[in-house]
Amino acid sequence: MSATVFTIANQKGGVGKTTTAINLSAILAEQKIKTLLIDLDPQANATSGLGIEKEEGGSLYGPLMGEGQAMDKIKKTAFKNLSIIPSEVDLAAAEIELAQKPDYLLQLRTVLQPVIESDKYRAIIIDCPPALGLLSMNSLVTADYLLIALQCEYLALEGLGEILRVVDRLHEAQLTNNSKSEVLS
Ligand SMILES: Nc1ncnc2c1ncn2[C@@H]1O[C@H](COP(=O)(O)OP(=O)(O)OP(=O)(O)O)[C@@H](O)[C@H]1O
Ligand SMILES: [Mg+2]
Repeated sequence: MSATVFTIANQKGGVGKTTTAINLSAILAEQKIKTLLIDLDPQANATSGLGIEKEEGGSLYGPLMGEGQAMDKIKKTAFKNLSIIPSEVDLAAAEIELAQKPDYLLQLRTVLQPVIESDKYRAIIIDCPPALGLLSMNSLVTADYLLIALQCEYLALEGLGEILRVVDRLHEAQLTNNSKSEVLS
């Protein structure tokens, strides 16, 4: 059975994306659900939050640029059933370099497909950076479900409208995983 991919996104900063990603991953793992947390934010807060050292060459940057496999970037954590693909600062360059690739919105899905189909994980959680750049867009294209972390305040609604419009445009372009794609907010 292939893994279900959840992405946690919001272009607003400091709204609880990483906290949700870490806690959701930990709870799923605790429930004996084999879970992979993917830190797609160059800030690497989910990586340090799980006590993993940032390591040069340890992120998805290489695979996204056509060098190496995502599977080789997976690290065990201190928690049973919970693994991580860490981030490090070079992912910031991917934000720019992805734009030069053909199919620049499909790169993450392509890179993660072997992991998704590997039978090793039932849940994959992606922690996004606070921007609607190419890393977040790739994550939206890869996901089966989108969780929007949100602070309950008026201005947050403007940001919410923006990300939902992006999801609509990706749907229209038939880039999302249409068979299962849903927004959970
Ligand atoms: N549900 C919550 N209630 C109150 N505070 C929270 C909640 N979730 C997270 N926080 C706090 O809000 C701060 C920002 O959280 P977090 O780093 O998870 O946000 P983020 O959206 O990932 O930030 P960034 O956009 O920089 O990646 C942290 O200090 C965290 O402890
Ligand atoms: Mg974060």
